[in-house]
Amino acid sequence: MAFERVGVVGLGTMGAGIAEVFARAGLRVIGVEADAEALARGRGHLERSTGRAVDRGRLGEAEREEILRRVTLTTSRDDLSEADLVVEAIPEILDAKVSLFEDLDRICKPQAVLATNTSSLSVTAVAAATGRPGRVVGMHFFNPAPVMRLVEVVGTVVTEPGVLDEIAGLARRLGKTPVAVGDRAGFVVNRLLLPYLNHAAMLLENGVAARDDIEAAMTLGAGLPMGPFALLDLIGLDTAYEVMCVLFDETRDRRHAPAPLLRELVTAGLLGRKSGRGFHGEPPVRRESER
Ligand code: 3HC
Repeated sequence: MAFERVGVVGLGTMGAGIAEVFARAGLRVIGVEADAEALARGRGHLERSTGRAVDRGRLGEAEREEILRRVTLTTSRDDLSEADLVVEAIPEILDAKVSLFEDLDRICKPQAVLATNTSSLSVTAVAAATGRPGRVVGMHFFNPAPVMRLVEVVGTVVTEPGVLDEIAGLARRLGKTPVAVGDRAGFVVNRLLLPYLNHAAMLLENGVAARDDIEAAMTLGAGLPMGPFALLDLIGLDTAYEVMCVLFDETRDRRHAPAPLLRELVTAGLLGRKSGRGFHGEPPVRRESER
């Protein structure tokens, strides 16, 4: 199938980034949000991200306008009826995703592929909510989506193999590298990355080292582009916490139990960049012994 018209449902940080990736590759994008306010926030993400690329001389103003013109924003899911592919990027609530996929199955043409950008929930569960489980896949992008070069292509026991090949081909067309992964909590990247980030929160809370020392240790000592707390703030502490809960549920491995400090920050509404404060921001999160 030639993917020319794609839908993105949910225009938060990830959804807006994914919409931008498609539009930059020349595809027509229909971006769907629940209401006018959320739609305006989604438009803001797109404008800021492409505006920054212009400021850095990576994109011409005319090219930026062309990219933005390729994206149609709407609050009506019915506008997805002609899409060849729809990528879902709504919050990680399984019931909400299942109900969305039931809707998409009714609205979208039978040959359309339905994809979820879920970080850790079951792709099989959303596929089973549709009458086309063979054409439902996971298409997992990484934050920031316009920059990160990987897409995890998640197949289930019922995915048609041809569909996985088509989605992998599309990922290459977007300038990304696809990797094929099975439908297990966290797939590959989050399965390995999130326990490490969670462990960093435990070291902080147990007073093993201070936040900035842990950041310096992992950037300078392990050569990572960001320390664990800067990365947690980028990913969103709520998302990180949800992934850890799913990993723990599936594996029952106590090494995957979410760090109490992570849960505490999420409960307090300190979610990282999206809320203005997380592990970084004022006042800083300190070791227990310093409180
Ligand atoms: N949106 C769009 N573009 C962005 C961006 C954003 N949010 N943040 C940075 N960029 C672009 C910049 O414009 C710049 O592009 P240019 O070279 O064309 O000008 C480029 O990325 C590099 O940015 P900077 O020079 O500002 O900063 P860095 O060199 O420090 O790179 C980074 C920033 C790419 C975020 C880098 O620090 C990094 O790779 N961090 C690790 C990110 C990571 O691990 N992500 C995966 C998280 S796990 C996940 O998402 C899964 C989910 O399910 C939880």
